[in-house]
Amino acid sequence: MAIATHARRFMTLCLPFFFFPLLRLFRFHCEYQSPHMDHEFSMDDLSQLVEAANDFATYPGVQSDDSARDFLNRFPLPLIINALQTQYDVPGLENTLVACLERLFKTKLGASLIPQYMSFVQVGLQADSQPVRSLACKTVTCLIENPGSDCKTVARLITDFNIYPLLIDCLINGNEQVAAAAMEAMKMLAGFPEGMEIIFPSAKGVDSDLGAIASRCSSLGRVRIMALVVKLFSVSRSAASTIYSLNLLKLLEAEIKNANDTLVTLSVLELLYELAEIEHGTEFLSKTSILQLLCSIISDNSAESILRSRAMMITGRLLSKEIIYSFIDESCAKTVISSIDGKLQSLETSDRDECETALEAFGQIGSTFEGARLLLSGSQPPARHVTCAAFDRQGPQGHGRQLAALHALGNISGETRSENIILNAEAEENLRRMVYEAASKSSKLTPSGLFLSVLHQDSEIRLAAYRMISGLVARPWCLMEICSKQEIINIVTDPSTETKKIGMEARYNCCKAIHKSLMSSRVSSDSAFAGIATKLQEAVEKGPYLIKKQVEAQPVVMTAERF
Ligand SMILES: *[C@@H]1O[C@H](CO)[C@@H](O)[C@H](O)[C@H]1NC(C)=O
Ligand SMILES: *[C@@H]1O[C@H](CO)[C@@H](O)[C@H](O)[C@H]1NC(C)=O
Repeated sequence: MAIATHARRFMTLCLPFFFFPLLRLFRFHCEYQSPHMDHEFSMDDLSQLVEAANDFATYPGVQSDDSARDFLNRFPLPLIINALQTQYDVPGLENTLVACLERLFKTKLGASLIPQYMSFVQVGLQADSQPVRSLACKTVTCLIENPGSDCKTVARLITDFNIYPLLIDCLINGNEQVAAAAMEAMKMLAGFPEGMEIIFPSAKGVDSDLGAIASRCSSLGRVRIMALVVKLFSVSRSAASTIYSLNLLKLLEAEIKNANDTLVTLSVLELLYELAEIEHGTEFLSKTSILQLLCSIISDNSAESILRSRAMMITGRLLSKEIIYSFIDESCAKTVISSIDGKLQSLETSDRDECETALEAFGQIGSTFEGARLLLSGSQPPARHVTCAAFDRQGPQGHGRQLAALHALGNISGETRSENIILNAEAEENLRRMVYEAASKSSKLTPSGLFLSVLHQDSEIRLAAYRMISGLVARPWCLMEICSKQEIINIVTDPSTETKKIGMEARYNCCKAIHKSLMSSRVSSDSAFAGIATKLQEAVEKGPYLIKKQVEAQPVVMTAERF
């Protein structure tokens, strides 16, 4: 407390000296542009400024150049900046002016003024006040974003005013808002070659070596540097390639390896989850040891469950991209799958959340052809956990698990694949065998009995069941099972089965998939199937939604839910 008070007093005393050269500059501008305004503000001037700034900042809708011009004619920029720097003890003034300047610099006119005020930006990035720092970071973003700016000029301004190291400092030492604003500015900077050159100079300078900076930081600072690395990685393939070749992804790997703080590890896993989403990054990620590290977390029984769950989600995301299979070999994918398989084997019912996450990860992996094939191969196919859980009704506690499994089975069977629904012979045989095994172990005895029983469950389960059937029905054995139960046909062809839009569409897609499979099947000409074919055909023509014969009063909520 005492130290903070001293520091504040010290800053209050020193600030005027610190800003003195700048103030002189602004005073000159004020006098030049607005002779009636002295830099000694009267309370009246100030309250007018604050009121107008507040109106400008809170104006609903986009501020035009015209309104920016009007505002600046009344209150020139140097005057606003002067007030911001000298009148910081006026309550509410700082936040209002900061909000006003933020919007001002977002207009084209405002952005075009930024190059003349780079010294303000420079001072603002070092300000004691977090809102001012954040404003300064956002101003850099506006400078870069301004379509009127020329890349070379912007890069020169940023270099001349030493902006980049100050942004790094904001990233590491600012509060959360400042750090986010600094990161955004640096992301913008990485968006053009001259900017990239500032972040990653081809002639290596100490200051811009993110790895070295990270090694000197606290763990929070390191996490923020890593977050920056991920942000920059997402900008473009060339940024990702640079980051990979500068070994910056090793920062994340090292952090996971040396983990002794769950929160830090969790933050890094959060970043990896983001990283896994970046399509152009797949190639570089697959060259690192990240997948192996994730596998070791998943297999580590002493790790916290939340860490294992996050690790499974990341691998699911990574292996849900068809392209990754051209960068990793099959054994690597198999290692990932078997680590999740091992988890499912040992968990079964012990940790419900982790079990659901594992099934979801299989669902993601199973959405690709290669992933589905691997999940369904071998004498103990990993997907056996999915087929078991999909039809295993375990009361309310088992609901989430069954739901995850049904969705996963939908993906594995190809519901989300536009082509390559049918897998290779081994995978197909295993899929068929496992569904029949699940049936024989249940009281329903047949797959059609299983399908019907899930279609009789709640709307969430039905939705997942429609997806699963849509995928599976491309197989002749499944088509025969479906057609053998008139009640299934009745459910999927009846537009009144579902009441919500998403359910209606899932039911309709399922109906179409069955119809398509029947039409391309040898049995389509068989008179025994003629009735079913007609019924499906009519339902396909009717469309997904229930067209009411007579208009009846409906509660508003119901209508909104439907459409
Ligand atoms: C974490 O563990 C490593 C070695 O296991 C040790 O060197 C380091 O000091 C530990 N860090 C913290 C913050 O405990
Ligand atoms: C199914 O696959 C899609 C496409 O990859 C994916 O977005 C979705 O999350 C997967 N669903 C489940 C339940 O795994």
